[in-house]
Amino acid sequence: MTTVGRSRADAGAGDVATGHEPDSTWHTLVRGLQLTPELKAGLGITLLLALVATAGRVVVPVAVQQTIDRGLRAGAGPRVGAVALLIALAAAVVVITAAAAYAMNVRLYVTSETALAALRTRAFRHVHDLSMLHQQAERRGSLVSRVTSDVDQISNFVQFGGILIVVSLGQFVLASLLMFLYSWPLALLVYACFLPLAYAVRQFQKRLAGAYSVVRQRVGDMLGGIAESVVGAQVIRAHAIERRTGERIDQAIDANFRAQVRAQRISVLTFSTGEIVAGLANSAVVIVGVLLGIGGHLSAGELTAFLFLVTLFVQPVQIATEVLNEAQNAIAGWRRVLGVLDTPPDVADPAASPGEGRDLPPGPLSARFEHIGFSYPDGPEVLHDIDLEIAPQSRVAVVGETGSGKTTFAKLLTRLMDPTTGRVLISGVPLTEVRFGSLRRRVVMVPQDGFLFD
Ligand SMILES: Nc1ncnc2c1ncn2[C@@H]1O[C@H](COP(=O)(O)OP(=O)(O)OP(=O)(O)O)[C@@H](O)[C@H]1O
Ligand SMILES: [Mg+2]
Repeated sequence: MTTVGRSRADAGAGDVATGHEPDSTWHTLVRGLQLTPELKAGLGITLLLALVATAGRVVVPVAVQQTIDRGLRAGAGPRVGAVALLIALAAAVVVITAAAAYAMNVRLYVTSETALAALRTRAFRHVHDLSMLHQQAERRGSLVSRVTSDVDQISNFVQFGGILIVVSLGQFVLASLLMFLYSWPLALLVYACFLPLAYAVRQFQKRLAGAYSVVRQRVGDMLGGIAESVVGAQVIRAHAIERRTGERIDQAIDANFRAQVRAQRISVLTFSTGEIVAGLANSAVVIVGVLLGIGGHLSAGELTAFLFLVTLFVQPVQIATEVLNEAQNAIAGWRRVLGVLDTPPDVADPAASPGEGRDLPPGPLSARFEHIGFSYPDGPEVLHDIDLEIAPQSRVAVVGETGSGKTTFAKLLTRLMDPTTGRVLISGVPLTEVRFGSLRRRVVMVPQDGFLFD
């Protein structure tokens, strides 16, 4: 049983580096939302506010068109009253829109911070549930980066990108509708310019996803390397391996730099392509619009409104390319956090399932090792068929040369790891059935290397 648990734990530890196929973007999003239900709290109202904030934006082009066609260029000369009324109406809508946008952002911040605090706590809790074995297999600093910098990345995205996508989508749809209403040939023209871009963005997105997976991993490696060099400073000095440690960190920083630059290159390429297409679409609309106007198919107000609408249409497309960047970075981070949460703890607390597990009996305890065998992952057998009984209230010294397995023996007795074969019993209770709370109160290990708590 232990072996199965362990190999699954190891599979969860590496992502791209081990060739383990990363989950699809969509799957990660769905799993992420399942594990962070707090993100969905009050989403309905936030979306409603987003809708108001979006709808307000298209009022300006319509107001401009009405002002020009019905106010300024009206048959009987400019109508000041109508113009003033239209401007007042548009101003009121703009104020409402701004208020809705403010409320939406506040709600979004509160929800996302609440949800991510919960996610961080959950991941942090889980890191502690992973056994010593797993914490060693995966470098500790890298584990820390998964509950710190990776979660930060998700928060960046949810706060800036997430709602932008929603607002942009609304703006995109509304702008499209109005464009078709004002002039369908011009609307088709704009679409013809942007369809190839949509395809290109999808391709870029795939490459970005890969690039950002590498970035999140390199950030983890770098933070891990730096954290370890600080925590292990004494050991490093004692062994005079400053140079080697320095080189390792330099390499990690350099690898991170290269991964970041590569991802940014792809992202800048996406953004610039969007800019070029936007420019092309605008000039095409001006040329064709003027021709249509000369032919009497389009009024001056309609063409002006249309140009406003093209800007409103282009904005979401540009934002989408930019937000994709954040999104891919966040999803790569999310994947790593999920990787921690999905790693089954190989030494599980029986108390995790309600009603399960037992407490140790009161009074002096005995210990029994039943044909214990143990090997570290991918290592040779360290303990071989250990079979012994320690009577209550006896003092026993375990003596042996360095590396003979004394600490390993103690870790098995305190259940920091489970044996590969055989079982450990305390006063007749199999260790795997003892609740951690009870075990940690009664059986303790004082390690060789001290650790000062602040
Ligand atoms: N985390 C680990 N991963 C892989 N192998 C390990 C790990 N920890 C210990 N070992 C190996 O297991 C064997 C037993 O190690 P252990 O630390 O139990 O020895 P020890 O008797 O406590 O040594 P010392 O007297 O130096 O403290 C050694 O060969 C060691 O290299
Ligand atoms: Mg030891």
